[in-house]
Amino acid sequence: SNHIASNSLFKGKKVLISAGPTREKIDPVRYFTNRSSGKMGFALAEAAAKLGAEVTLVTGPVDLRLTANHITRINVTSAEEMYEAMHSNFSEHDIVIKAAAVADYRPKVTFDDKMKKQPNNWNVEMERTKDILQSLGEQKTHQFLVGFAAETSNPIEYGIQKLKNKHLDAIVINNVASEGAGFAGDTNIATYVNKSLEPIEIEIASKLDVADKLMNYIARDMKDEVQ
Ligand code: CTP
Ligand code: CA
Repeated sequence: SNHIASNSLFKGKKVLISAGPTREKIDPVRYFTNRSSGKMGFALAEAAAKLGAEVTLVTGPVDLRLTANHITRINVTSAEEMYEAMHSNFSEHDIVIKAAAVADYRPKVTFDDKMKKQPNNWNVEMERTKDILQSLGEQKTHQFLVGFAAETSNPIEYGIQKLKNKHLDAIVINNVASEGAGFAGDTNIATYVNKSLEPIEIEIASKLDVADKLMNYIARDMKDEVQ
């Protein structure tokens, strides 16, 4: 493979990454979730560690293991737990990347006992979760903050809206409707957009190779901001 060799691009830098889906409980045996595998977030954690960073990875429930050293893994389940973990770690990190697919809604009421089936329909009322990335963007001080956008139509337009609304330094836009991109697979196709709003296309590649490229764009843009 053509992975970029280990170097010290991120030596002395602390990188906080979130990955995977969240799981929103309704009763002891049931929950709402989404199709995120966590692979992109894990690939970013490995890529950042390989470039010399000290990495904290906050992950929802996924079936993945880490191979690199210098990665501290924090397992969470719900959007609320991810919010707490991201905020309590935010201030001490230099680069924060939100690759997680956070549930936008959770059941308004949860049950301690398993729900028994009823003769009729069951309407589950859902309430909004907190937008973690938005709240980090509003509280940002020195951090370089990177979001993801999962879109099925007008990806660049919607992605740039998220970059602006959430006060991000860059966004990685995935057209999850296109072949070879998105949640489950081992490959991805992405568009990286920084505050210059000029989209950079990253052609189809393994999630590890896409992660290497993204970390290099982030390193370049951080330098530009500091100077
Ligand atoms: N995000 C978050 N907290 C949420 C929802 C999303 O931190 N409750 C973050 C995701 O981790 C991602 C970015 O926001 O980095 C964009 O997520 P996405 O689902 O594409 O956008 P939303 O803002 O949730 O808007 P919508 O789902 O309506 O497109
Ligand atoms: Ca969403």
